[in-house]
Amino acid sequence: MRRTLIAGNWKMNGSFAANRSLLTEIVAGLPASSSADVLVCAPAPYLAQCADVLAASPVAWGAQDLSVHAQGAYTGEVSAAMLLDCGCRYVIVGHSERRAYHAESDQLVAQKALRAVEAGLKPVVCVGETLEQREGGQTNQVVGAQLDAVLALLTVEQLRNIVVAYEPVWAIGTGKTATPQMAQDVHAFLRQQIAAKDQELGVSVQILYGGSMKPDNAAELLSMADIDGGLIGGAALKSADFLAIVGAVK
Ligand code: G3P
Repeated sequence: MRRTLIAGNWKMNGSFAANRSLLTEIVAGLPASSSADVLVCAPAPYLAQCADVLAASPVAWGAQDLSVHAQGAYTGEVSAAMLLDCGCRYVIVGHSERRAYHAESDQLVAQKALRAVEAGLKPVVCVGETLEQREGGQTNQVVGAQLDAVLALLTVEQLRNIVVAYEPVWAIGTGKTATPQMAQDVHAFLRQQIAAKDQELGVSVQILYGGSMKPDNAAELLSMADIDGGLIGGAALKSADFLAIVGAVK
């Protein structure tokens, strides 16, 4: 039985004051008995604050990217060891915004996933197609290639520590959500691809959906057989919305 993970991706938003309110409200509002694991992925300068505020809570925290390098002369980069130092358990890799604005290739994303796993962090590996690719009937081919790069580089043992997130680019921050069936179809395809590498891994890997997940569509998306949680952008910045999504987990 796979656990459900509700993860917030704050992107480049926040301040010490705003984060404190948001995190405090989330912790205070968590349902007493929830079957969901809860995660927030904050900008790097606020990870130590997450550690401070969340330490005694069930909420985990993580980063939004990491360097492919271990340490050294890489100005501006943040290493896996630094994220661990800040108490992170997770790190997002290959978000479509990094693929698009920082030209991150499938290979680089796979190397970052490997770096994370080797350090003891769980990478949340994002895959997703653009509108043009979907309309061109290339969805499976695109997400398949993105996932394949990771499946090819990591061992089955290492892959047991990854989370996959399907985020159709056209649904991110647009208010357009994939229908539950559209998302389910891609999730099932991704799971099949993972199962082809290792049957058991196909059953156990968590695959999250991201792209305008909100309180009013979360329950339906989360009820699909192969959707194991959400990676939430906009709605993760409002405690009421984020908590409502957590509350939508059966
Ligand atoms: O990583 C989460 C994300 O890209 C989805 O963002 O704002 O559409 O929920 P949003």
